[in-house]
Amino acid sequence: MNQKEVRNIVKRWMFPTEGGSYMGGLEKRPVLAKSSGTLVTDTNGKDYLDFQSGQMGAALGHQHPRIIAVIQKTMKSLMHSTNTMLHVPRLRLHEKLGKLLPKPLEKSLFLVSGSDSIEGAVDLARKATGGLDIIGIHAGLHGSTSYVTRSLSFNWSRNKHSAVAPGTSSVLTPYCYRCPVGLKFPSCQIQCLKTSFEMADANFTAKPAGFIGEPILSAGGIIVPPKGFYKMVREECDKRGMLLIFDEAQTGLGKTGKLFGFQHEDGVKPDIIAISKHFGGGVPISAVCSTSDVAQKAVDNGYFATRSHATDPLLCAAGEESLSIVVDEDMPGKAAKIEKMIKGAFRKMAKEFELIGDIRGRGVLLGIELVKDRKSKEPANAETQKVFDYCMDKGLIFQVRGVRDLKNVIRLVPPMTTPKEQIDSAMSIIYDALRFVVKGKQRRKVGVRG
Ligand SMILES: Cc1ncc(COP(=O)(O)O)c(C=O)c1O
Repeated sequence: MNQKEVRNIVKRWMFPTEGGSYMGGLEKRPVLAKSSGTLVTDTNGKDYLDFQSGQMGAALGHQHPRIIAVIQKTMKSLMHSTNTMLHVPRLRLHEKLGKLLPKPLEKSLFLVSGSDSIEGAVDLARKATGGLDIIGIHAGLHGSTSYVTRSLSFNWSRNKHSAVAPGTSSVLTPYCYRCPVGLKFPSCQIQCLKTSFEMADANFTAKPAGFIGEPILSAGGIIVPPKGFYKMVREECDKRGMLLIFDEAQTGLGKTGKLFGFQHEDGVKPDIIAISKHFGGGVPISAVCSTSDVAQKAVDNGYFATRSHATDPLLCAAGEESLSIVVDEDMPGKAAKIEKMIKGAFRKMAKEFELIGDIRGRGVLLGIELVKDRKSKEPANAETQKVFDYCMDKGLIFQVRGVRDLKNVIRLVPPMTTPKEQIDSAMSIIYDALRFVVKGKQRRKVGVRG
């Protein structure tokens, strides 16, 4: 399909994209034709290193051969099924996931999208506690369904919705690089959270039900809460009879170097976790996981959550296979190695470029915050956009993120299967981009190695 045809279809038949969102202007970007492993290829045959893992659903690599094989096999026997009757792929997935979950989590139910799993998790917390209010983090993102998950996605503007879900409010993001209360960790003793809970108590509209957080705030600019933050959240939740929900959409199943992102903080046990993204190895399936006790209490109060396609055998079989791949291929170990390579490369680049303000994240969920200078920390939004444009042109794709209006964090999410040579290629493209943006110099022609 040529560029003219693309433009015509977009103009005539597609909803326009919202300019300020991360999807804004997508009609000007390459049109994708195929993908394999860490590469996506456009309709002109140009390859790109996919350092956004699709929309994070390809963290096992695109078209993983084991996922393709299991999908093909299941399609021939049982593709779709009613959720009023059980089938073997569904049962196998409950068992497989239950055995992998850190105790006391063991129960699961399946849905389709990440937003679904957050809706299901929030409803579960409300039904299990009899409460209503849910606290999120003000740079958090939990989905795009029009009511509950967008209301809890404080990194977007809530005033864009016609209605906001009752009983949803936010607390300060523990963004140590730009501390919201002007202190320094660890002497701050996590004052942001203490202040936040004091405000939350004043703002609750009913009995509180839960606290939801990402172990690493991804869309908010890869913010890693300081050590002790979630331990304190756990304690504050316990004092108020609230449940702790981790949204593991982006941090789960190996990406941070551990099976789940919350496991980086010793001793913190969530009541509920939600998983999605690469859980299906590229097809959409999500899960709400909890303890027997929470599940039973909620069900006793009328809880259920499902969708017509929530338990399709095709999706369940892909889910089971993706969990096996995560374990068999040691995805957490691979992610940890990639973190070392990428952080090492950026630390080296930071010696040359003042623009690099902060390097953070875990595993294959990494963020590089660009600033005009390190003293003022003025966000380098325009420069970040130039780095993005340069990299796209040279065959490296990623997304630009940041806290609310900031768009100055290069978010790198390569598939966990990315080999060293491709990490090196990506780092070399970014190096050239920084050199170009800072010094106006093009260094040399770089290409993507497949
Ligand atoms: C942390 C987090 N939770 C939930 C979601 C929503 O997932 P989905 O787009 O599959 O509904 C996203 C989407 O990016 C996310 O990043």
